[in-house]
Amino acid sequence: MELPFAESYKIKMVETIRKSNREEREQWIREAKYNLFRLKSEQVFIDLLTDSGTGAMSDKQWAEMLLGDESYAGASSFYKLKEAVKDITGFDYFLPTHQGRAAENVLFSVLVKEENIVPGNSHFDTTKGHIEFRKAFAVDCTIDEAFDTTLLHPFKGNVDLGKLEEVLNKDCDKVPFIIVTITCNSSGGQPVSMENLRSVRKLADRYHKLIVFDSARFAENAYFIKIREKGYETKTIREIAREMFSYADAMTMSCKKDAIVNMGGFIGMRDPLLFEQASVFNIMFEGYITYGGLSGRDMNAIAIGLYEGTEFDYLETRVRQVEYLGNKLISYGIPLQLPVGGHGVFVDAKRFLSNLPKEQFQAQTLAVQLYLESGVRGVEIGALLADRDPVTRENRYPVLEFLRLAIPRRVYTNNHMDLVAASLKNIFDRRNDVTQGFKILKEANIMRHFTVELDLA
Ligand code: F0G
Repeated sequence: MELPFAESYKIKMVETIRKSNREEREQWIREAKYNLFRLKSEQVFIDLLTDSGTGAMSDKQWAEMLLGDESYAGASSFYKLKEAVKDITGFDYFLPTHQGRAAENVLFSVLVKEENIVPGNSHFDTTKGHIEFRKAFAVDCTIDEAFDTTLLHPFKGNVDLGKLEEVLNKDCDKVPFIIVTITCNSSGGQPVSMENLRSVRKLADRYHKLIVFDSARFAENAYFIKIREKGYETKTIREIAREMFSYADAMTMSCKKDAIVNMGGFIGMRDPLLFEQASVFNIMFEGYITYGGLSGRDMNAIAIGLYEGTEFDYLETRVRQVEYLGNKLISYGIPLQLPVGGHGVFVDAKRFLSNLPKEQFQAQTLAVQLYLESGVRGVEIGALLADRDPVTRENRYPVLEFLRLAIPRRVYTNNHMDLVAASLKNIFDRRNDVTQGFKILKEANIMRHFTVELDLA
């Protein structure tokens, strides 16, 4: 008999989660103005809002927490992390920051000027926010295949070289750098192939442009390269990661993802001058260059997490759990971004609730329905998150309208996944009865989805 797949860890500590009834949830979500970010976590049973900072640290990471050096300057924890960053990514220069968007803030303070154009593959919302906040523009150069959820393509995070070259041709002087997000969150946790990274490097060299990797889920990207790309089958995850990073000039990292910690980030750089310039902003926004908003214990846990997060057995367990949920949903006929991504399942809300007008926020409607059904919290990656056009102030309706079910690392079992899948199936079976979506009551100027207040349309 063939042995079934099983997790590469066992559980040493547990946390109670609370079930609720539909009546309670109806009241809670109404009070939260139909915004799942406004719920209290105790009002949630299974929390798939994000895989960011929600993972379970290992015994080794917790042990390292006790060894943190809390010196203001020159802490041994800084050097421990610096060494791990160099070993895993190859970057000589590094600045710790409190999380990924802080790394973006510091690096972009040096690199992005008004009227600049930053091409990339479906920029993450904070990345785009930090570009647009500086009155610059993010231009999406993702391959067209990514926008057809039914299409099976192994690297839907890839940059379309034609689209990128067009931007470089037309506005070369305005482009400070190209940003490549690995894996690409916005298109569904989809990986970028090594061949594509190599080609982007060649193109960037022809136009003398820097490349920055948004590396939050770089290890999951390396895993997909190993299992999907010819020539990488026998390479280790760390060898693949090192090659990936060799094509970048700098990187921003949210350690809350693939470094499996609850808080942290950093910038990796090759150029000492860039490091010098970024250091000034790091001191201003984050903290001195040897701690950057992190305590020594945090840096220790990240250092260990970078190694654990790049172990094949861990990654296989992780990505296969996401796939397990995805396959269940596929077997129920539920439309989702194919193939299933690295950190979550991205349900195609446009096809799921096809009779609901986009102006009523299909993915948000589905997210609220799922919460009401069983207390599962997903997140909208659609028109609410897309914000308004900074110039026209019109709502932007993206091609893809997703309900994202992001799976925290090493936290839930497949029984939890079964419950999530059954909940969505129940909604899918009565999808034609879902005829009322939402309208906006109150919204912020930028990144409105976090705080938006909604009412029934
Ligand atoms: N880049 C990517 C690709 C991300 O997914 C995120 C965060 C960031 C940058 C910013 O990092 O949160 O540490 O400041 N993504 C989370 C998510 C919030 O839910 O996908 P951060």
